[in-house]
Amino acid sequence: MLTERARALTGSQTSGMRNRARKLSAAGVKVVNFAAGELDQDTSQIVKDAAHRAIDGARNQYTDTLGIKELREGLAARVTRKTGVEYAVEEIGFTAGAKQALFAAAFVGFGPGDEVIIPAPYWVTFPEQVRLAGATPVFLPTAENDFQIDVEALAQLITPRTRGIILNTPHNPTGVVYHTGALEKIARLVLQHNLTCVFDECYDELVYAPAVHQNIVKLVPEMKARTILIGSFSKTYCMAGWRAGYVAAPQPIIKAIANLQSHTASNPCNLVQYATLAALEPGNDPFVTRIREQLRRQRETALQLVQAIAPLTCVVPTGAFYLFPDVSRLLNRSFKGELLTSVDQLAEMLLEHAHIAVVPGSAFGSDRHVRISYAIPTEQITTGLQSLARFVQSLD
Ligand SMILES: Cc1ncc(COP(=O)(O)O)c(C=O)c1O
Repeated sequence: MLTERARALTGSQTSGMRNRARKLSAAGVKVVNFAAGELDQDTSQIVKDAAHRAIDGARNQYTDTLGIKELREGLAARVTRKTGVEYAVEEIGFTAGAKQALFAAAFVGFGPGDEVIIPAPYWVTFPEQVRLAGATPVFLPTAENDFQIDVEALAQLITPRTRGIILNTPHNPTGVVYHTGALEKIARLVLQHNLTCVFDECYDELVYAPAVHQNIVKLVPEMKARTILIGSFSKTYCMAGWRAGYVAAPQPIIKAIANLQSHTASNPCNLVQYATLAALEPGNDPFVTRIREQLRRQRETALQLVQAIAPLTCVVPTGAFYLFPDVSRLLNRSFKGELLTSVDQLAEMLLEHAHIAVVPGSAFGSDRHVRISYAIPTEQITTGLQSLARFVQSLD
């Protein structure tokens, strides 16, 4: 009964691991969950109060497809501030999470016959959405370059069929923040070849000094015409389950996305729109500062503990809330007589025997790494990584 397209679809592996960890916990096993892609904290009171007011204020009707005007105005001001380039309301759309914005971007920006370059490792959803749009993902390996983009290697991947590139900085799963020089050069390539750049900056507020996040439009303002900017309230604002994201792009792209959204979701949840409007208030800024500061400390704890586990190696992450250690030297060793042959098997064993959930690198196009999220309480980070160290020590 299923179409070929539906059969080719795979579920998100990151959600898979998260669900398995939750199931084990529900069965009474104490699992440290390093697999989540979100913070384990409540949304700010400002946002919750706004949602309550929206419920009591009978915000029960459909809204404009891409959101209420006040919210789009607020988002336009935010993007204008981030890019240093004026964005109008007509160049902004609110979506049910950045994931929906990214899907819409892929759907209206890429099509059959197009090639879309994606640095690898990549966030699990990018290639799947490109395929759903009928286009072909082309991967640019970055592991040998500390997960930074080698712009010459990128230039070599460009063919007459190349339609776009998807950039994500700060990066999931590696935690790196792309260097300014590389971004500038990439912008020149995009302009020279008339490509579309999808620029996902869902973790833009979560950057740890001395690293600085650079928006590609801010660096090269001509890029506004060729960029689809994507942002999210899931991470920084602890609103993952609310589903709040946005897209900023030239008006024809936003219009096409509005058409798509009008036939799929109609509009993002009305109540969430009012809650997100409150998230944008200056009064909510201290919440974001607190989250960033807390993650900075957790990152230091997690990094120190992982760096002490030989023979793992880990590129120092400067953004988001992930470590992406290279675990390849654990492969071909044995745990209680069982040979470890893949990162998937390693993740299974860690869940079963060390009671820690990590996401195998295979979900992100790597057979040598695992992803560890440190957006969990420090005691859990310590307990979980000590357990990882004991597991590694016990290998033959
Ligand atoms: C790089 C990246 N982009 C987009 C998203 C999706 O965010 P949202 O929850 O807003 O859909 C995520 C979530 O993990 C992400 O890591």
